[in-house]
Amino acid sequence: MALRTILHYPDPRLRRTAQPVAAVTDAIRALIADMAETMYGAPGIGLAAVQVDEPYRVVVIDISESRDQLQVFVNPEITSREGEQQMEEGCLSVPGIYEPVTRAARIKMRALDREGKPFELETAGLLATCIQHEVDHLDGKVFVDHLSRLKQSRIRKKLEKQSRLAM
Ligand code: NI
Repeated sequence: MALRTILHYPDPRLRRTAQPVAAVTDAIRALIADMAETMYGAPGIGLAAVQVDEPYRVVVIDISESRDQLQVFVNPEITSREGEQQMEEGCLSVPGIYEPVTRAARIKMRALDREGKPFELETAGLLATCIQHEVDHLDGKVFVDHLSRLKQSRIRKKLEKQSRLAM
């Protein structure tokens, strides 16, 4: 396993549309292991492969307090969305920024697990928000896209300044 570097907004590589995984191979399972280590190390509650510069439809999530309930979603597809909820979101690719975002309150979705086996899930609350946030990443979207133009430009300037300081 290896820690991967997380791309930071507004890196244009975060705008790519991730491609479906044709087969869950050992190489994909190695990517999943790296993503989990990177997410736990950050620490964060979710990570999409595009955030570590791997343009595949792979997501890892762990919203448990104990940090030992890893959920893996390969080729996730949200099949229905109901209601609305607003939650304060952050993102490992947008460090230090937390803003409320309105998303569906309940979702149904399907995906493959790390063995390549299909499963379906119906969920609400934090997990529903988290899955929608991560699936956005696979379509080249970042949570700040849901904010006002003014907020987006403030966040972009702040992060560009931080990345200059970091070099
Ligand atoms: Ni994110």
